[in-house]
Amino acid sequence: MSVSFHTLRIAEVVPETAEAKSIRFAVPDDLRDTFAFAPGQHLTLKADIGGEEVRRNYSLCVAPQDGELKVTVKRIAGGVFSNWANDNLEAGQDMEVMPPHGSFTWEFRPDARNHYAGFAGGSGITPVMSLLKTALLTEPDSRFTLFYGNRDSASVIFLEELSRLKNRFMDRLQVHHFLAEEAEDIELFNGILDRTKCDLILGSLIEPEEVSAFFICGPGPMMDAAEEALKEVGVPADRILVERFTAGRPDAAVEAQMHQLQARAEGLQMTVTLDGRRRRVPFDAKAGNILDSARLAGMPAPFACKAGVCATCRARVLNGEVEMAARYGLSDEEIAAGYVLTCQSVPKGEGVEVDYDA
Ligand code: FES
Repeated sequence: MSVSFHTLRIAEVVPETAEAKSIRFAVPDDLRDTFAFAPGQHLTLKADIGGEEVRRNYSLCVAPQDGELKVTVKRIAGGVFSNWANDNLEAGQDMEVMPPHGSFTWEFRPDARNHYAGFAGGSGITPVMSLLKTALLTEPDSRFTLFYGNRDSASVIFLEELSRLKNRFMDRLQVHHFLAEEAEDIELFNGILDRTKCDLILGSLIEPEEVSAFFICGPGPMMDAAEEALKEVGVPADRILVERFTAGRPDAAVEAQMHQLQARAEGLQMTVTLDGRRRRVPFDAKAGNILDSARLAGMPAPFACKAGVCATCRARVLNGEVEMAARYGLSDEEIAAGYVLTCQSVPKGEGVEVDYDA
């Protein structure tokens, strides 16, 4: 993954609901390969807001076949970037954008005959939309079932697009809306996607053992409910893909342990490779992690959330051992392959070597 930002022009801003807008970027020919993406991935956007550099990740809501680069930004209460973007961004403006990344994805193959299912809540639909469209466009024999929770029908992002897709892929796409504050005739579809609802879904609307992959993205409690319900009925972990945008509150015991480790690691020498440059960097306890120690030393190591969710700061440990406070953004395979989230990592001894290019 290229970790540097590029300037892209906004080609179009599309209002999706009263609280969400999609932003389509124009990609110049010489950056086409750089901005090629896998379905479900996200972009990191960077802006100067009130004199401060703010970075946020937003999922692509399109399939690679759409030939567009488009993300959707929903306002969140008190959200610095999301409110600024909804109020200020217009076609013709330039924006700093990092190339697509993220592991909430799936390799769709034209000869596959699969059934996929998505659990999405609110703006969590964006990466699921990208996966859903790609599945239907790439695999003519595959099906997709979507369970999509929202407050009311006015807040449903992509309501019309989903119904267009349903008409186009009549036999292969099923969409079930769940509305928390609007009553429907069928009781099952009233209320939020909580654990009870997920259990009912798995008992009546879908055969979990027939599903090749479940894609889950939305508010934390919804994701936990769906994941737990799936595990309860025996769906193996490698068929459950979860995309988190926010981290839960750190565990107090973990936090205390990390403070101790940070203090002990002060001044430990590390070797950091970024964009082909290899440098010695001391660990800085005040910075608190490898990412910020490298940045303090003048290396522009990439980041977005600094909360262990987005994996923008991912690097591979080539030598030594590190301790990670949170690891939401990494899959078990990545951890087994030696990847860490440097915004969450502290060296456990001298000579730790991390490589952002690996
Ligand atoms: S910056 Fe998001 S996980 Fe580290």
